[in-house]
Amino acid sequence: MNILVIGASRGLGLEFVAQYRDEGAAVTATARNDVGLARLHALGATALRLDVTDAASAAALSAQIAGQSFDMLIVNAGVYGPRTQGLETPAQAEFDAVMHTNVLGPMRLLPQLAAALAPGARLAVLSSRMGAMAGRSSNAGWLYRASKAALNSVLTDTALALKGRAICVALHPGWVRTDMGGDGAELEPARSVADMRRTLASLTPEQHGAFLNHDGKPLPW
Ligand SMILES: NC(=O)c1ccc[n+]([C@@H]2O[C@H](COP(=O)([O-])OP(=O)(O)OC[C@H]3O[C@@H](n4cnc5c(N)ncnc54)[C@H](OP(=O)(O)O)[C@@H]3O)[C@@H](O)[C@H]2O)c1
Repeated sequence: MNILVIGASRGLGLEFVAQYRDEGAAVTATARNDVGLARLHALGATALRLDVTDAASAAALSAQIAGQSFDMLIVNAGVYGPRTQGLETPAQAEFDAVMHTNVLGPMRLLPQLAAALAPGARLAVLSSRMGAMAGRSSNAGWLYRASKAALNSVLTDTALALKGRAICVALHPGWVRTDMGGDGAELEPARSVADMRRTLASLTPEQHGAFLNHDGKPLPW
């Protein structure tokens, strides 16, 4: 297995790298600072510097992975942004940071990474139930919600483009104890990532384009 994880300096991305390395996979992973790159090196991954909000950095990735063919691509990098409780308008810079990371980043990377996928590869974006319109009962974090709803649209369009070439899904990792999820979250990263790895490993072509919970159950958009 040859795996690429985008945004793996800490949290769920780093846990994906640790678990895939444990099972003996070849892993290439990205981080945007030296601390993150050192963590990836220590796990035996090929570590590449990438800031998904930087067009030049994203454009340089293709050359860095030239000749590689990935069986699994996980686009994990994400930010939450302002922790609003109601309809508090984000500052322009907050809006740009969240949308550039969570939406424009994948829109820059997915077209170029499609060419680096092995036939029948699996492609996952880390989305969130918070982006689902169905059954929404809170508007807390509305900028993050809007960004993940947009990411779900990006995944749907990517799935249309890659039909028959890769199985593409949006994954909800659960509410996980990372810097983003906080100490009060329900799941350990190890458990969430173990579930998502199992879900990814057992994907069938019928699940192409789906929105899935970490345990593989389908989620409404
Ligand atoms: N934790 C949860 O409960 C939860 C729930 C639903 C969905 N998710 C999603 O799961 C994914 C991972 O979340 P997490 O909990 O692991 O979050 P986290 O602990 O905050 O880690 C976020 C990761 O994204 C990277 N990143 C942020 N901006 C980046 C940029 N511009 N370029 C490259 N990498 C960047 C961070 O790198 P740096 O170290 O350089 O900042 C870090 O590796 C995110 O997409 C998140 O939205 C998480």
